[in-house]
Amino acid sequence: MANEFEIKKQICDIGKRIYNRGMVANNDGNISVKISENEFLCTPTGVSKGFMTPEYICKVDRDGKVLQANAGFKPSSEIKMHMRVYKERPDVKSVVHAHPMYATAFAIAGIPLTQPIMPEAVIALGCVPIAKYGTPSTNEIPDAVSEYVQYFDAVLLENHGALTFSDSLLSAYNKMESVEFYAQLLYLSRQLGGPKELSDAQVQRLYEIRRQFGMTGKHPANLCANTKEGKASCHNCGGHCGQKSQTANASEELVKNITAKVIKELGL
Ligand code: 13P
Repeated sequence: MANEFEIKKQICDIGKRIYNRGMVANNDGNISVKISENEFLCTPTGVSKGFMTPEYICKVDRDGKVLQANAGFKPSSEIKMHMRVYKERPDVKSVVHAHPMYATAFAIAGIPLTQPIMPEAVIALGCVPIAKYGTPSTNEIPDAVSEYVQYFDAVLLENHGALTFSDSLLSAYNKMESVEFYAQLLYLSRQLGGPKELSDAQVQRLYEIRRQFGMTGKHPANLCANTKEGKASCHNCGGHCGQKSQTANASEELVKNITAKVIKELGL
């Protein structure tokens, strides 16, 4: 692993990328990296993540308590959210939080990214659920994220933004780019009359490719109970198949409500 100063520089570089790509406004967003079982580097609160230098970066322990911070800098106000992910996913080495325009618009509209519309998004992410709204900086967001953290590497935060995590800083950042690109394509294709979704068979072939590549992280291709029984994986069961995830339940609930309304309107 690179030395601590190198990692601080990498965090600053990723901060620049997030800011320059318009994935955050003002002082928004935060980034962290696990450097040992009880040491984590994180961005400070209340600064533009596009203009940081290594001295800005703080060090905290697994409870989010400050181990080292230069004068004038305090760890991110969302450190509890980061620490919960590390606690519940020992494979995770980095967490990235941002407010990318399209992904956040879906999070505000309450629409999870579940439609399989392009190979890269299906392979990299599977689908992206929405963790229910929580007040920033409280335990409400970590609690909401916790529900999905064993099944996905990317989660939308209702009325707030997006959270991605992975086994390296670059990979956690890349997942944020993938989430935003997927959200943007989904939004635009909906304006063009609605996306033509990949078929179940096409999705299964992409899952197979993901398995063959031995890609790390949590994904329906590896988690669905059907897969373990040698059957086709669900696209959006989020590993809860049998119990059913909120994502799947939300779509079913929506279909049920619309059907009831149509039946009522038609007087059937
Ligand atoms: P911090 O600057 O405290 O990390 O907060 C930014 C943010 O985006 C909160 O959601």
